[in-house]
Formats: sequence, structure tokens, C-alpha cells
Amino acid sequence: MLFPPRTKLKIKDTPLDSARLPVHVAIIMDGNGRWANAKGLSRLHGHDQGYRTLKDTVYAADDLGLKFLTVYGFSSENWRRSQEEVGGLMDLMLRAMKAEIEELIYNEIKVRVIGRMHELPDALREEYESAMRRTEHFTGLTFTLAINYGGRAETVDAIRAIADKIKRGELDPSQIDEATVSQHLYAPDIPDPDLLIRTAGELRLSNFLLWETAYSEIYVTPAPWPAFDQSEFIASLMDYAKRIRKFGAVIELNPET
Ligand code: IPE
Ligand code: IPE
Ligand code: MG
Repeated sequence: MLFPPRTKLKIKDTPLDSARLPVHVAIIMDGNGRWANAKGLSRLHGHDQGYRTLKDTVYAADDLGLKFLTVYGFSSENWRRSQEEVGGLMDLMLRAMKAEIEELIYNEIKVRVIGRMHELPDALREEYESAMRRTEHFTGLTFTLAINYGGRAETVDAIRAIADKIKRGELDPSQIDEATVSQHLYAPDIPDPDLLIRTAGELRLSNFLLWETAYSEIYVTPAPWPAFDQSEFIASLMDYAKRIRKFGAVIELNPET
């Protein structure tokens, strides 16, 4: 065995119903700093622990049969933090992908990265490009990392791409509709998130997937990301299973159900 054996999470050992699972779960992994602070540890220690939680979450999502997991790892505004923290995060992201890629491939997980990758350190960008190339043929869970990602930056990039097509005479402005916009976002082949989880209690989007979350169900837990364990994940999926999604329509509720 190449990797330490993992105890697989089986849906039948959980209260979950596979018919009521979301297809795409997106997570704002927040609270690493507060978790570390409460323990008298450095913020970077908190991010390190967050990496462990992320690994567990990716494999839990895979075990449960989710098709898409997208996580917010570094926002386009996170450059505003201290040089020490930003540098530490860049190092961690590189170290983590180098350490995990073979196991991700072994488990046939498709890795994607969204965000302005050209602004990342060369070594990190190259590691991400290689991970995407090496996993692009897998058909199970797609694990997307949003790194140097901002919803507004994504919108700007889409507008630029659309404007370029108009300039080249390939598109007429009157043809632009919602599908045109979706097709010019970073991951046009990935469906919108069904469930958006935010850890650490904050009730905001912080510039994450602004277009894509138009009709996502939102679940906020007070647990900081390093404390988001399997039971927290299952609780969020149980909560999602109870939601009634209406997409603007009127749904008749049967009082007996
Ligand atoms: C989330 O945790 C990780 C990143 C934003 C990179 P934070 O670092 O934002 O932790 P808090 O919000 O300060 O507790
Ligand atoms: C959002 O968390 C970004 C990530 C989780 C990567 P932040 O901690 O940056 O968000 P704010 O600043 O509290 O809104
Ligand atoms: Mg935060």
C-alpha cells in the first residue's frame, strides 16, 4: 500500500440520504487565525491545522460521492495581510500540494484551481498547473481550490473576455445573456454550488463565487475551520437535506409531509 490506509466514510453509516445530497459543495474555510489565537498558537499554526481539516474534508466528500467540492483558500484581498502571513500561506500551499498530489491521483480526484494564477509565485503556479494536468482525465470528485480568487475579479475577467470577442467581431452585444456570462467565468463546466458552507460564524460572502451562489443554500457554523470535523460536515449536509429550494417559484407544500 502506497498510502496509509484510510477508514472510508460510508454513507450507510451516516444519517444521510444519498438522494438528498448536494452535487456541489463550496466552503469558505474561515477562522484559522481565531482557532490558533484561542490556543495561544501562531496564525500560521492555525493555517497548518486548516490544511489537515481540508484533507479530511476532501476525502469525506469523495467517500460520500459528492461530485464537486470548491474551497476558498486565499482571496484576492488576503494580500492585505502581513508579509509573514502571506509568505507562510504561499509556502504552505506549495508544500501541501507537493505532499498530497500523489495521493490525490491514487484516489482519482480531479484537481482544479480558480483565481488569478498568474499573480502567484512561479513555483506554486507551476505546481497547480501540473496537478490540473495530471488529474484532468479523472471523472469522480472534482476538487477546486480558489486561490487568489475574488468574485469581482472573476467578473472583470469575464467582461474582458466577452469584450475581446465583441472587438474581434465574434459576438454581438445583443447576443449576451446569462449563459454567455457563465461560460466566461473561471470554471464554466462546473455547476453552481448547491450548498455554501462558511465556518467561524461570519455572515458574509467575502467576495466568494458571487455569480455562482445566486441560488445556493447557505449554512454557517460557529466552528472555526480547524475544528470542522466529519460530524460538522455531516451536520451541514443533513441541514441541506431539509431545505426546500424554490428558485423563485411557488412550491406547494403538502402539510402531511
Ligand atoms: C481563513 O482563516 C484562512 C484564510 C483566509 C487564508 P483566517 O486566517 O481568515 O482566520 P480568522 O478569520 O482570522 O480567524
Ligand atoms: C475569506 O475569509 C477568505 C478565505 C477563507 C480564503 P477572510 O477571513 O479573508 O474574510 P473576511 O476578511 O473576514 O471577510
Ligand atoms: Mg477570516
